[in-house]
Amino acid sequence: MMLTIPNILTPEQLRQCRAALEQAAWQDGKQTAGHVAARAKDNQQLAQDDPLSVQIGDFILERLGSEPRFIAAALPLKVLPPRFNRYSAGGTYGNHIDNAIFSVPGTSHRVRSDLSATLFFSEPEEYDGGELVVEDTYGSHRVKLPAGQLVLYPGSSLHRVTPVTRGTRLAAFFWIQSLVREDSQRSLLLELDNAVQALTAEVPQSPELVRLTGVYHNLLRQWANT
Ligand code: NI
Repeated sequence: MMLTIPNILTPEQLRQCRAALEQAAWQDGKQTAGHVAARAKDNQQLAQDDPLSVQIGDFILERLGSEPRFIAAALPLKVLPPRFNRYSAGGTYGNHIDNAIFSVPGTSHRVRSDLSATLFFSEPEEYDGGELVVEDTYGSHRVKLPAGQLVLYPGSSLHRVTPVTRGTRLAAFFWIQSLVREDSQRSLLLELDNAVQALTAEVPQSPELVRLTGVYHNLLRQWANT
């Protein structure tokens, strides 16, 4: 399942984050790639302990915590602190699959990357290229979203970022361990949740709503790991 969530940040929040990120201490992204990924990776990142990265990352996590569409789709158990990257001057990241397990810096916690997320900070017209291309069994999906929008996709996906041939692409990226590990089960739960929400608006008194809501929770009870 791939899903776009708009308006994670307001225009004013975006402006402030971007102003800060433009002054940030960017580093070569190869430093944080594994042996295989480093060969394909040509971008810049902020150090995970960079105070700016921590501050904006915390702010994004706070916003996500009050975003019902994110919670319904991801069913988050643990969310890794967001990281930040910048692509310009031909910068690219070739096909790769992300690591399965990430450590939370400064703690003994580990997070399984069931879902990957990218939050765009640059408007599409500010740069050429820089598309996130995600492969699945239905083919290639090319994603280039307006600033402030987020894309969620399965952490198991083969994906890449095409070369940025003009301008600069700024983004945050992070991983989520879901209560429900299987993408197919999360998709079913989201579909059921959306249907229940729509029926609640249309026929709020229907007794079947109680039963359908019960089915949702009983499926979640079967599939969730906490
Ligand atoms: Ni990746």
